[in-house]
Amino acid sequence: MIESAPVDPTATEAWGQLAGLAEGFSPDLRGWFDSDAARADRFTFQAADLTVDLSKNLLTDEILTHLVQLATEIGVADRFQAMLAGEHINVTEDRAVLHTALRRPKDGADLVPPTGFVVDGQDVDADVHATLDKVYGFADKVRSGAWTGVTGKRITTIVNIGIGGSDLGPVMVYEALKPYVQAGLECRFISNIDPVDVYEKTADLDPETTLFIVASKTFGTLETLTNARLAREWLWARLLSSGAIDDSDAARDDAVTKHFVAVSTALDKVAAFGIDPENVFGFWDWVGGRFSICSAIGTSVIIAIGPDNWREFLSGFHAIDEHMRTAPLERNVPVLMGLLNVWYSNFLKAQSHAVLPYAQYLHRFPAYLQQLTMESNGKSVRWDGTPVTTDTGEIFWGEPGTNGQHAFFQLIHQGTRLIPADFIAVANPAHALKDKTGDGGAVEPGQDVHALFLANFFAQTKALAFGKTAAEVRAEGTTESVVPAREFSGNRPTTSILAPALTPSVVGQLIALYEHIVFTEGIIWGIDSFDQWGVELGKQLAQQIAPAVDGDEDALESQDSSTKALIRKYLELRN
Ligand code: F6P
Repeated sequence: MIESAPVDPTATEAWGQLAGLAEGFSPDLRGWFDSDAARADRFTFQAADLTVDLSKNLLTDEILTHLVQLATEIGVADRFQAMLAGEHINVTEDRAVLHTALRRPKDGADLVPPTGFVVDGQDVDADVHATLDKVYGFADKVRSGAWTGVTGKRITTIVNIGIGGSDLGPVMVYEALKPYVQAGLECRFISNIDPVDVYEKTADLDPETTLFIVASKTFGTLETLTNARLAREWLWARLLSSGAIDDSDAARDDAVTKHFVAVSTALDKVAAFGIDPENVFGFWDWVGGRFSICSAIGTSVIIAIGPDNWREFLSGFHAIDEHMRTAPLERNVPVLMGLLNVWYSNFLKAQSHAVLPYAQYLHRFPAYLQQLTMESNGKSVRWDGTPVTTDTGEIFWGEPGTNGQHAFFQLIHQGTRLIPADFIAVANPAHALKDKTGDGGAVEPGQDVHALFLANFFAQTKALAFGKTAAEVRAEGTTESVVPAREFSGNRPTTSILAPALTPSVVGQLIALYEHIVFTEGIIWGIDSFDQWGVELGKQLAQQIAPAVDGDEDALESQDSSTKALIRKYLELRN
């Protein structure tokens, strides 16, 4: 266990300097760009395939210097090395945090720590690769049709049942990498305990060609286990009604063996559910749920896109891990982005952070980042149990562009709140289409539609940075009374992230980038970014309230008056 107390960021010299700079801070992106032709160049950085332009942020060289000094004073780089080496930086659970080990290449030369490093008696690399090989072998069998259901038919639909980190990662990556999915295979994802989720996702499925993956680190999550039981009932009922199996225990067991596999750290609980231990893919308690996409939790996606693409996906993560480990702080992209977020949250009092992928396949990325960032850094105490000394936990939200432009961008452009925003785009779409007709105006016949899409990406960050002055509005002949409404203040900060294409590697790079941004912020704030005690109380109370909503009077009477009245109303409304 790491005993050391966190450094209080507010007591560092850099914090004092930054506080001084924030006082009366008057950003001037127009002026800064006009007077400094090298600004874009100087504040644009490369991390693997990601080009990251920070120049449209409310940032000066002086601010950057002090932010980097803050990271140095706090010891961000040392703490990252400690994480890589398997120290128990998840202090409240006394665990190592080793999601970076999930993507280390097999027998890689020059790895830090070296191949074969041992943590708490475990040869981490050996176990990681043994599990990956097992998943790859299974994925190949499903993909080739060698794995069949009870009636000998090949699997066409994989249904992942999981929630939180056992769902958001697989869904997001499956959606992001749709063009890589093998023809004839489809994944679906059941997460919510609202029974309509199981109903809708299974209604049109053929049980003979469906494989369920029950993904749960703990195999104790109410939603996932309930949904797994519902899915098992569905499977039995449908196979029985079509005459595919008889009503014997042996036939039911066989159906579960052929149509259910699991991903978990709790092998005993999986066996109790009836899943063949041969078909369980394990991982370890040093992989946090929201950091688990590189583990066997990705099995559904590995089946869909195949082991070769998955290896490329993992290599993308590793490239960013290496960047984070080796790049000097002043050019270290995740560190700089994490520090900028601290600048906005703690000094300029931003309340939230938008993430806006201009890539439709990344439509679940904001939802994924919400768990990654907010479950990690939504904490009020530090890792030694003392209160935090400053605000923590950014509120992340977003939607893909250009849809967001026609929904909430108004508030980003002209609202009263400061909302730093990350814009993400790729240069080459999976499906390039041309608008053969054009619109008779700006859109010429033959216009590349993806280029038109990216024109919006570039336009938005420009509008947010530079705005439109009253004089510019007046020059358009606008009626004076309407000028204020049409004026744009500018100085609204954005980061632009541009990649060549949405390849498996690039998707891995993007995820790893945000993992390390979260890490940087958490270390600055002195919190344990790897526990999630805050979700426990609600889980306990749901179990306690369950008998009351089922009509148990004693359980109902023991509730507070508001909860009691709400449940009574529910019981009255229920048919
Ligand atoms: O919501 C809390 C949480 O523990 C998440 O951290 C986790 O990703 C999710 O529940 C699912 O947990 P499990 O994989 O154990 O079912």
